[in-house]
Amino acid sequence: MNPLRTVGARLSLALLGVVALVLGLVYLIVVPSLKSRLVDARLNDLSHARKALVAEYEQQPNDPDFFSNAAASTNARVLLLSVVSQSPTLVTPIQSSLPGRSAEAFTNDPVASLSARTSQLERGTVSRSNGEFAEVAIPMPKRGEILLLAAPLHDALADVSAVQRRMLLAGGLAFVVALLVGYGAARLFARRIRRLERAADRIAGGHFDEQVADRSADELGELARAFDRMRTRLAGLDHARREFVANASHELRTPLFALGGFLELLEDEELDDPTRREFLDTMAGQVRRLTKLADDLLDLSKLDAGRLHVENQEVELGSLAAGAVDEFAGVARSLDHPLEYAANGAAIARGDPQRVLQIVRILLENALVHTPPGTPVEVSVRRTDGRAEITVTDGGPGISDEDRAELFERFYRGESTKASGSGLGLAIAKEFAELMGGGIQLDSKPGRTVFTLVLPAGKAIPQPEPEREPVAV
Ligand SMILES: Nc1ncnc2c1ncn2[C@@H]1O[C@H](COP(=O)(O)OP(=O)(O)OP(=O)(O)O)[C@@H](O)[C@H]1O
Ligand SMILES: [Mg+2]
Repeated sequence: MNPLRTVGARLSLALLGVVALVLGLVYLIVVPSLKSRLVDARLNDLSHARKALVAEYEQQPNDPDFFSNAAASTNARVLLLSVVSQSPTLVTPIQSSLPGRSAEAFTNDPVASLSARTSQLERGTVSRSNGEFAEVAIPMPKRGEILLLAAPLHDALADVSAVQRRMLLAGGLAFVVALLVGYGAARLFARRIRRLERAADRIAGGHFDEQVADRSADELGELARAFDRMRTRLAGLDHARREFVANASHELRTPLFALGGFLELLEDEELDDPTRREFLDTMAGQVRRLTKLADDLLDLSKLDAGRLHVENQEVELGSLAAGAVDEFAGVARSLDHPLEYAANGAAIARGDPQRVLQIVRILLENALVHTPPGTPVEVSVRRTDGRAEITVTDGGPGISDEDRAELFERFYRGESTKASGSGLGLAIAKEFAELMGGGIQLDSKPGRTVFTLVLPAGKAIPQPEPEREPVAV
């Protein structure tokens, strides 16, 4: 990757940019205002001193020490200039505190010329070959003369340049510190991002063992914790998938193995007819079991893939339950179970009639298969507040607490189950019920087990049903 495109480089550059901007702004705001304040202060000093100087000069205009004394007290050059021409305004020094010919540099001084023109006190700064000066020019009462006070600014400007230098130095230092801190912080940050990237690659590769650890409380820490939650969830799903495949292949292998054995036995030519018939019946049973298993596995795979569509329509539960009871009447009789539909009203639910029937079949089959012969089984329907229910009740020995905790898990078979089911019925029933916005409730004690399919109630008001005789088997 281009090093300038890394998060680290971008963060460092952003930090440098911010530092440079702040320093530039401070420099632009502080330095000019500092300079103008110092110059103003010098000009104000000269302006304040002028009254006393003018008064002193007027009292003793011929005092030979006036200019040197005034220069010492104001710390400025003091000159008297005479106006030699008004238009253009030309002034020339006639007396000063300066030695020799150095006063000639003030000939036609711009501040003094301005004062001569306006006849007012004027102030300003003038640059000369020997430096910059703050000047105050005062028109004297005797016409044609200007008193000029010119204070060199080199001390004040030296202070400004010292501040300028220090600011540049501090700026340079801040720049280096920002570069180092920014680079260090960005490297730390980038290292944590790379650690997360490696963790994501590991998870994508199906390795869920290593924890994604970042204990910080910031957003990256949050992201790492979300990654770790995802890892745990995916590990769980992966485990469930492997277990499912192992269970499913085991369940498929058992009947196939039995079928293979019977096929070999049937090859024996000396087998008498009744035994051959018995073998064929058992084989037909294994084929039924295989078909049911294949159907169940298909349903589960569709449920897992979210491809299973359920209708959402009005379902009249009474007639549906009665139909299921009729369907199971033969099996119930052969297993010696009294089976009846208790017609105690009507209930309309919202759901998929095919799936509701499939759930009732699962519950009915369980009640007939997992209870001892002679156990009565009863199916009924009812409507409560906003819900419609089908109940399958049996008088069997009940379900233990250990079984109850895992009953709706895939491939779970009760400890005491003798029947050769696959343990998928209740898992499928539960998922179908939930898909229709309902659920399955279990209430069991020795002598009475009740499975209830709860569904959202339909809106239609059911027509009163003609009394139906219990289907006694
Ligand atoms: N009415 C019931 N009375 C007692 N035990 C029951 C009853 N219904 C279910 N069980 C227990 O719950 C277990 C799980 O039932 P489930 O319907 O999921 O699987 P299965 O009946 O064993 O196999 P499958 O339905 O896939 O053929 C059963 O093995 C059984 O131990
Ligand atoms: Mg079952």
